Amino acid sequence: RPARFVLDPAFTVGEVSPRLFGSFVEHLGRCVYTGIFEPDHPTADEAGLRGDVLALVRELGVTALRYPGGNYVSGYRWEDSVGPADERPRRLDPAWRSTETNRFGLSEFIDFVKKAGPQAEPMMAVNLGTRGVAEALQLQEYANHPSGTALSDLRVAHGDKEPFGIRLWCLGNEMDGPWQTGHKTAEEYGRLAAETARAMRQLDRDVELVACGSSSQAMDTFAAWEATVLAETYDLVDYVSLHAYYEELDGDRDSFLASAVDMESFIENVVATCDHVGARLKSKKKINLSFDEWNVWYQSRFEAEAAAGPLDWPEAPRLLEDNYSVTDAVVFGSLLIALLRHADRVTVACLAQLVNVIAPIMTEPGGPAWRQTTFYPFAQASRYGRGQVLDLRVDSPTYETRKYGEVPLLHATAVRDTDTGAVTVFAVNRSRSAALPLDVTLHGLPISQIAEHSVLSDADPDARNTLTDPERVTPHPGVGAVLRDGELAVTLEPLSWTVIRLS
Ligand code: AHR
Repeated sequence: RPARFVLDPAFTVGEVSPRLFGSFVEHLGRCVYTGIFEPDHPTADEAGLRGDVLALVRELGVTALRYPGGNYVSGYRWEDSVGPADERPRRLDPAWRSTETNRFGLSEFIDFVKKAGPQAEPMMAVNLGTRGVAEALQLQEYANHPSGTALSDLRVAHGDKEPFGIRLWCLGNEMDGPWQTGHKTAEEYGRLAAETARAMRQLDRDVELVACGSSSQAMDTFAAWEATVLAETYDLVDYVSLHAYYEELDGDRDSFLASAVDMESFIENVVATCDHVGARLKSKKKINLSFDEWNVWYQSRFEAEAAAGPLDWPEAPRLLEDNYSVTDAVVFGSLLIALLRHADRVTVACLAQLVNVIAPIMTEPGGPAWRQTTFYPFAQASRYGRGQVLDLRVDSPTYETRKYGEVPLLHATAVRDTDTGAVTVFAVNRSRSAALPLDVTLHGLPISQIAEHSVLSDADPDARNTLTDPERVTPHPGVGAVLRDGELAVTLEPLSWTVIRLS
């Protein structure tokens, strides 16, 4: 039987925040060095930023850019990353056992953000692992205060006359994780986050602050962590963070294809926890969600490599350089759909990461840059997933998975552009072998044509883009979709990501 749903502008989830299409630049592996920054590269600009990478970043359509970590931030000394580049210290980075040259720092990052596209904005993390309130305040003053104080004048002396105007700040990173440098209990972190938030607001009432939630839904402390941290910080922060990575384990591809089931339940459980704390505090305020690390990541491969031998402090090593298949891109598209379906509460999200490190963009030092399979769903969602998310009640045939039980074959969302009235449907068919017919009924929508029908799928579900074959996988035009008398009929290819633009 076909899957079905109704598109009706009277039923909406909420407005998509532009920040839903954020990404992440961490000092990790080759994300920064030979990723976005390579002064000797033939396409580098006067600041050392790779022009070929910047062009792809703009095409990707990223918005909030989280920096400088990640686990890296828990050893970060902001003052090492400012001032004349050749005078900056080399430091050991305990998180990734690498040597950090600090050749690229805060000012270079802000310059990168300015060139990364019209909606790009910085999202800066402060170190609450090995540092605290004082250093957070110093960084905020250096970055954001116009002038006339020691730290703001230091920024001006370093060549940045204009303040950086950073609005969005993360209060540490994954502080629930035992792997985190300076890991804390929920009570310890909740107090520190509250005091840091209070102090940062004393400097500037309008900053937007993200408290650390759980590193995944599978953490033993999940939900209790959020409840304890929010009990301390509820009135002081705007967001709580979520992180989730998915991979195919033990050859169980059917469960992997249903990864968004976990992501959606994670979101709903965090919303429930936030609202529970709000109810206990009799607060009218709602805490929103910052899903500031999400992706497919073959973490088991990374852990096996790390166990085989710790790194011996290299500079910019090849770390976490996953090469994504068509199957990975379909799961990735489904994760995007999960975020859009919860756009009422998930108002910040960052694809982790941007270049080379579990990234949609890959580079070769001195060589080319290219798009991974996952580049395409993100670029399409960022471009067309703007406006109001429609509330879809999806009726779909199901399949059985080991991890999540019975799961719908169709995962879908639709976004209405409120200026033009155009609607874009994003859909994933999770079946590995069968096409899925889909019937969509349009109610009250001034739609007359299918403006675009794009599909990402391949006869080889393991096909990928590589240095030697960078365009092996690209979206292709879909065939056979029919729009007649307010009914759209389309057949979704097996294991596919589909975008249908109706105007
Ligand atoms: O994105 C890679 C790493 O994953 C980040 O540094 C950390 O926050 C998470 O565990």
